[in-house]
Amino acid sequence: MDIDWSKLGFSYITTKSHIEFEYTDGKWNDGKIIEGNPFVSMSIAASALHYGQATFEGLKAYRCADNKIRVFRDIENARRLNASAKYACMPEFPEEKFIDAVTKIVKDNIEYVPPYSANGSLYIRPVMFGSGPVIGIAPAEAYKFIILVIPAGPYYKSGFIGVDAMIFDDYDRAAPNGSGRYKLAGNYAASMTAGKLAKEKGCPVVLYLDPKEHKYFDEFSSSNFFAITKDGTYITPLSNSILPSITNKSLIQVAADIGMKVEKRPVEFSEIDTFAEVGACGTAVVITPVNKIHRCDKVYTFTSDASNGFLVKLYKELTDLQYGRTKDKYGWMRLIE
Ligand SMILES: Cc1ncc(COP(=O)(O)O)c(C=O)c1O
Repeated sequence: MDIDWSKLGFSYITTKSHIEFEYTDGKWNDGKIIEGNPFVSMSIAASALHYGQATFEGLKAYRCADNKIRVFRDIENARRLNASAKYACMPEFPEEKFIDAVTKIVKDNIEYVPPYSANGSLYIRPVMFGSGPVIGIAPAEAYKFIILVIPAGPYYKSGFIGVDAMIFDDYDRAAPNGSGRYKLAGNYAASMTAGKLAKEKGCPVVLYLDPKEHKYFDEFSSSNFFAITKDGTYITPLSNSILPSITNKSLIQVAADIGMKVEKRPVEFSEIDTFAEVGACGTAVVITPVNKIHRCDKVYTFTSDASNGFLVKLYKELTDLQYGRTKDKYGWMRLIE
């Protein structure tokens, strides 16, 4: 193992092991840790391959200031995974089994958890998919649930400097009554063309509006949207087509506790001139400031004061808690013993 912790980004590397469970005859087996073979086998007619019957999660383990390793709110990921699984007619994976699997795979890959000084984390990626054969659209009979881990640094190379976001009026990632509120693999396939076009125009991220009217903000391709208004209110969209972000849910709580006014409601695009700061939030991006939003020929600019803005204040509150620099007053961090 030869990792330069100071150069960690957010990309796949093979680590020591992954954990794999199989569902057959109506039940999950006890699972096994597989070393040195980062591949899975499945039917050539697997429902995941043909019909996208697959869901995934993303969460992180941190090496904290006391050198102990803790996982952030993994019970929430277990619940969201099961909500997505139910929507795509996949079997429930018991919450305790999920937590136990996270513990086992983090422990087995302990040397890949970046040191406290590296400011990184171990990114944990659970995936459930239909592995049994189906021809003709229907749920599979057999499933796999795997968890892989990678050491991770910042998602966007620019770090807290911020990124530009692009709104397209001719692309949506979700349908008004569709699967946007679940973490289905297919949602991400549906966002790839827009993502590629945005990058070609110098924007690392796409910002989606509500798919019905393009009147309200929805979310970014890989994170939730929030803004701080000029009067210091934290606002974030209430929408049926966005993923319920665990980071956003946590920031809402933190923002309220530091005395900010918080509003979760439909947010009209026309309110854009009232925003002082705009942020993308999620496990991977943490809080990433958005400097500019491009829509058609218009550019909207925001300033996130890197020393004294609300975004940086919230970032500090959240990461201090995750790295164990402040007391875990919410009980969000689970110690890996
Ligand atoms: C589309 C989308 N929205 C929001 C999020 C943020 O969710 P969380 O904070 O639970 O990571 C993610 C990342 O998982 C995502 O892919």
